[in-house]
Amino acid sequence: MADIESLLKEKRVFKPKPEFSRQANWKKSTINEYRRLGAKNPERFWAKMARENVSWFTRWKKVLQWKAPNAKWFVGGKLNVSYNCIDRHLEGDNAWRRNKAAIIWEGEPGDSRVITYGELHREVCKFANVLKGLGVKKGDRVAFYMPMVPELAIAMLACTRIGATHSIVFGGFSAESLRDRINDAGAKVVVTADGGYRRGAPFPLKPAVDDALKGAECVEKVVVVKRTGTQTEMTAGRDLWWHEQMQGASTKCAPAKLDAEHPLFILYTSGTTGKPKGILHTTGGYLTHVTTTAQAIFDLKDEDVYWCTADIGWITGHSYVIYGVLANGATTLMYEGVPTHPAPDRWWEIIEKWGVTVFYTAPTAIRTFIRLGDEHPNGRDLSSLRLLGSVGEPINPEAWIWYNKVIGKRRCPIVDTWWQTETGGIMITPLPAGVDTKPGSATLPFPGVDAAILDDDGDEVEPPNGGFLAIRKPWPGMMRGIWGDPQRFRETYWSKWKDIYFAGDGAHRDKQGYFWIMGRVDDVMNISGHRIGTMEVESALVSHADVAEAAVVGRPDAITGTAIVAFVTPRGGVVYGDTLSKTLRDQVAKEIGAIAKPAEIRFTDALPKTRSGKIMRRLLRDIAEGKESVGDTTTLEDYSVLARLRGDE
Ligand code: WTA
Repeated sequence: MADIESLLKEKRVFKPKPEFSRQANWKKSTINEYRRLGAKNPERFWAKMARENVSWFTRWKKVLQWKAPNAKWFVGGKLNVSYNCIDRHLEGDNAWRRNKAAIIWEGEPGDSRVITYGELHREVCKFANVLKGLGVKKGDRVAFYMPMVPELAIAMLACTRIGATHSIVFGGFSAESLRDRINDAGAKVVVTADGGYRRGAPFPLKPAVDDALKGAECVEKVVVVKRTGTQTEMTAGRDLWWHEQMQGASTKCAPAKLDAEHPLFILYTSGTTGKPKGILHTTGGYLTHVTTTAQAIFDLKDEDVYWCTADIGWITGHSYVIYGVLANGATTLMYEGVPTHPAPDRWWEIIEKWGVTVFYTAPTAIRTFIRLGDEHPNGRDLSSLRLLGSVGEPINPEAWIWYNKVIGKRRCPIVDTWWQTETGGIMITPLPAGVDTKPGSATLPFPGVDAAILDDDGDEVEPPNGGFLAIRKPWPGMMRGIWGDPQRFRETYWSKWKDIYFAGDGAHRDKQGYFWIMGRVDDVMNISGHRIGTMEVESALVSHADVAEAAVVGRPDAITGTAIVAFVTPRGGVVYGDTLSKTLRDQVAKEIGAIAKPAEIRFTDALPKTRSGKIMRRLLRDIAEGKESVGDTTTLEDYSVLARLRGDE
C-alpha cells in the first residue's frame, strides 16, 4: 500500500522529443490509427501486423479461432521462424544484409565474434542438419543448458528450421531443476557446453547435465559446445562435440513449412505450486507479436545496434534478444558475463565499444549501478544511445530518473514494458513517439491488447483504486497452454473470471488511464526480475532431514527488488544456527539454483497459522520487513508464536 501511495504522488511527465518522433517507425498518426483499429477490431489489427511484418509460405484462412481458454491464431497459415529471422534478409531488396551483423557477441574475457546474416544462415542450416542426423524430427523436443554464446542462438534457430520444439533451461538452475524440466518436456537431445565465463573464471555446465541425465531416460544424445576448454567427461555413444558434428555438415537445409500453431518452444516458469510450469508458445502468433512490438517499441532500424541484457534462458531473451530482433533484420548484441567484470563499467564499455543505440535492461541492474556510482557510466561515451527500455519488475521512479539522466542524458525515451513469460511479448508499454511517460508507469496497453484492472467479481475498478491486472481478449503471442497439463492452465489463468486472462499482478490506473503495476498478488516472488515460487523454495527446504516445516516470503530489497526470507522450524532435537542456515541455503541452491537462495533464514519453533492450519504469510511478511503487524490476527492459532518470531519473548 505504501508503494501505491508513493507512486500516486509521482507527478512528473516526460513528453516525446520531436527529433525522436519525426524519425520513429511508428509515428503519432500511425499509433493513433492502430489504437483505433486495435480497439475496434483487434483481429483485423493483428492480421494487418501479421501480413506486414511476417513472411508466410501460405496465408491463413482464419485470423482467430477462440474457444476459451484455447486460442488458435492464423489458422491454416504456414511459415518458418528461422526463415523470417534469417533467409528473408538475404533475398530481394534485403539481400544487402548478407554481410550485416546479425549477432555481435562479447565474451566475458574480452573475446568477441560478429556473425553476419549470411554466416548465421550457414551455421543454422548446418546445425539443423546435425539435429536431423541425430534423429530429431518435427515436434521432437530439444533441451538447452547453455551459457550466453552464439551457438545457443544458432541452435535454437536450427530447431525452428526443422520444427523441433526447444526448451531452454537457464544455466543458473541446478542439475535437479534441469532433470525435472528435461523429463517434463521429454527431450530427446540436450545441447550444452563445457562451461562459460562468469566473474573472471570459467564455470562448468556439463557435469550438471551428466547429473541430470541420471534419471532422464528420454535423452538420446548430448551435444557439447567447447567454450572454456576445461577437462570434460564425455559419455561414449551419447555425448558429441559440437565442433566435430558441425565439421562437414551441409550448409543447405530448406526451412520446414510449419503450421502457424506448431509448438515453437516450451519455457518453464515458477507458479504458486512447487512444480514449474512449461509455458507453451507456438509459431505464427508469437512471431507476429514479438516482431511487431520490437519494431514499434524499440523503434528498430537497420543502423541500430540493439542490446538486451537478459539471458536467453528467460522469456526476455527468447523474444527480445533473438526472435523479435532478428525478424526485423536488426543487429542484436549478446554478452556472456556479469555486468561488473573486470570493472564496474563493463556494460558502459560495451556500449562505447560497439556503439549501442538501443538498450533494454532490468530495474535490479539499474539499482545496482546507482549504488556503484555515476563515475562508471560517466567515464564512458554513451552518446550512441537513443532509446532505453526496462523490464522484469516495477521500476521505482528514482531508478527511472537516474536511468534517464545518467544513462540517457535526458535525450533518450524510456520504455517501461510490462509483460510475462505467458504473454510471449510486450503488452503494456509506452510507444516512444506517441506516449508521454511517467516514471514508474508502464503507461498504456499496446494496440490490440485489451488490458484492464478488475476486482474479484470481474468488474472494472475505477481509478485510482487498485485491483487485478487482466487481459480480456486473446492476443497472438499468448501462451497456448501448460505442457502436458491443460487442467492447471485453466485453473491458474482462466478460473478467476469467465474467459478473461488473470495475470497474477496487482495494478491500478490513474486518471489518464495509465497502468501502474504493483507486483505479484500470488505466492510468486520477483527476485532481480526472476520469478521464483515460494512453494518451490519451501519444498527445497523441507526436503532436508533437519527441517520440519518452512514458510518463505519476500521482503523488499533495495537492489534485487525482493529478497527471500525463509522461516524454518527444525525437527525436534536438531541443533540450529549458522551452520544449519548455510546448509539450508546450499540445499536450495542444489535443488533449484543459486538464484533462489534465501537471503535470510530465521529459525522458529512454530509458524503462525490460522485455525484451519494455513500459514499466515501476511504476518510473516510484516515480520520479515520488521513492521509491526497491524493486520487482523483474530484467526491466528497461537499468539505466542508471533511474539517469539518478532523476538519479543
Ligand atoms: C513482473 C518477464 C512491473 C510482473 C518479461 C510480471 C513487471 C512478471 C514488468 C513476469 C514491468 C515484468 N513493470 N512489473 N515493466 N515487467 N514485470 O514471466 O510481476 O519473467 O507478472 O517475464 O514480472 O515475469 P516473467
